[in-house]
Amino acid sequence: MPSILVVNGPNLNMLGIREPGVYGSETLQDIENRLKESAAKLGAELHFFQSNHEGALLDAIHAAYGRHDGILINPGAFTHYSYALRDGLASVGLPVVEVHLSNIHKREAFRHVSVIAPVAVGQIAGFGSLGYELGLTALLDHIRKQRG
Ligand code: DQA
Repeated sequence: MPSILVVNGPNLNMLGIREPGVYGSETLQDIENRLKESAAKLGAELHFFQSNHEGALLDAIHAAYGRHDGILINPGAFTHYSYALRDGLASVGLPVVEVHLSNIHKREAFRHVSVIAPVAVGQIAGFGSLGYELGLTALLDHIRKQRG
């Protein structure tokens, strides 16, 4: 059964409180609970990690090497400028799917750029918390096709 690391970056621990008009009213715990149910149906094992610290996110990504089969990540604002996160994801060489609750492409100009996208299999943005489930489905499909 594929093992997936689900990573959430800065401020995503504030979901439910944080700008509900943009990010919805569900908490990160709500999202993780629902994702766990989807994973059970899809036949995957999930491990969750959230941090507001770039170094802690990097350590979790490095630790995924040899332990997990893919990474589903919402890098929060690090999406737009963390070359370290991008390099960390490239270093471990695991398939990555990037998720955003909001449609970053129709928001402020600084959000239009993702430095993570070039090292990801793909990006899902704008579908709220459903994006995590869509992202997990896409990541598992990619892993299964890769295995052949
Ligand atoms: C976000 C979009 C980012 O621009 C923002 O900094 C976030 C959340 C999203 O899920 O829509 O923290 O990644």
